[in-house]
Amino acid sequence: MMKKHDGSKPSERTVEVEVQPHPYSVIIGAGVLDTLGPRVGRLVKGRRAFVVTDENVDPLYAEQALASLREGGFEAAVQVVPAGDATKSLETLAKLYDAVAEAGIDRTCPVIALGGGVVGDLTGFLAATWMRGVPFVQCATTVEADVDASVGGKTAVNHPLGKNMIGSFYQPVLVLIDTATLRTLSERDFRAGLAESVKHAVIRDGEFFTWHEEHADTLIACDLESLGELLERNVRIKAEIVAQDEREVTGVRALLNFGHTIGHAIETGMARRGDPWRHGEAVAVGMIAAAHMSVRAGMLDHASAERITALVGRIGLPVNAPLAAAREEMWQLMRLDKKSAAGKIRFVLAEKIGRAVLREQIEPAWIEAGLDSVLV
Ligand SMILES: NC(=O)c1ccc[n+]([C@@H]2O[C@H](COP(=O)([O-])OP(=O)(O)OC[C@H]3O[C@@H](n4cnc5c(N)ncnc54)[C@H](O)[C@@H]3O)[C@@H](O)[C@H]2O)c1
Ligand SMILES: [Zn+2]
Repeated sequence: MMKKHDGSKPSERTVEVEVQPHPYSVIIGAGVLDTLGPRVGRLVKGRRAFVVTDENVDPLYAEQALASLREGGFEAAVQVVPAGDATKSLETLAKLYDAVAEAGIDRTCPVIALGGGVVGDLTGFLAATWMRGVPFVQCATTVEADVDASVGGKTAVNHPLGKNMIGSFYQPVLVLIDTATLRTLSERDFRAGLAESVKHAVIRDGEFFTWHEEHADTLIACDLESLGELLERNVRIKAEIVAQDEREVTGVRALLNFGHTIGHAIETGMARRGDPWRHGEAVAVGMIAAAHMSVRAGMLDHASAERITALVGRIGLPVNAPLAAAREEMWQLMRLDKKSAAGKIRFVLAEKIGRAVLREQIEPAWIEAGLDSVLV
């Protein structure tokens, strides 16, 4: 693809995330990874860069990122971590601190995540805490990271008690979303990431939900033009919510948890049974449960819940989970969820496709109805 004289690509899309005091840009397009070095070079003073990637992404894209960093005048070090959520740990982090020290990364030097949400969350927390904060750059390479994890500044590692228990809010200085990297993603990971896109549509944009129904086939075929539009619309929704409520205090950002309370319980439940699901798969089922809870609560019409189920199914995501025997465990897991406040389980429920609300007063019967709709 041709480069314009400022180093940008002709077909790229840009979304500004208006968080204070440092707004940042999200650049979306095929091949934008080639622009990493020059762009970061304009944002930071230091000329040493530290890249974290995982063992699957390393052979595919690390050289491309490094070549661009050299072009931008950087001397770059790369650290490769194992793939998978278990890498989001204090043990991995301890090794990364040793490596950034050895690479001579000081407060002026960028720390760059190259990978999916796992690498992004881990590297973000590294950048947030090394020397109390160094410039953080995200190069997202999965749909999950593109539509959700890379924007918004939530960084974390896991604790044995639960996922993402140790972390901080720390915004990047730049996010690059190279759509061409999605071509090598496994079909399972690709589809799982689309669940978060359906979520954004359900909570914020009914027309975008219809767009998903119309474009389901081209999306599944990984058509880069449709994907570009999908990613831009997702980043805009996420950016708007994050700008309104960066640290999840007013309740607006909590709407992003639609489908996640039962979803996280399913995710943990499946992992404990030795059949770990992708986060997006569990969220897909969690959204169907939340939709049926909303129907039971008298907030949503049944036809809308059916539309959500149908779209999830068309994308090739699960519409139920084999955890009927684990109902009590699901309840326990939901009580442990970080979204619980003062021991009460809070839920994001839908009023219609395109609008969701955070509800504090939840009848147990609604939760039972949600579980009934998805546990088999
Ligand atoms: N910070 C947030 O706001 C936020 C939001 C959503 C999810 N998350 C976190 O994100 C994580 C899940 O992210 P994920 O689904 O991206 O998982 P992931 O990072 O594990 O990536 C999925 C798999 O795809 C591989 N991969 C990545 N890019 C590839 C590519 N272009 N080609 C081929 N293979 C590739 C990875 O090695 C991995 O095996 C979870 O830890 C979740 O908690 C964070
Ligand atoms: Zn999620």
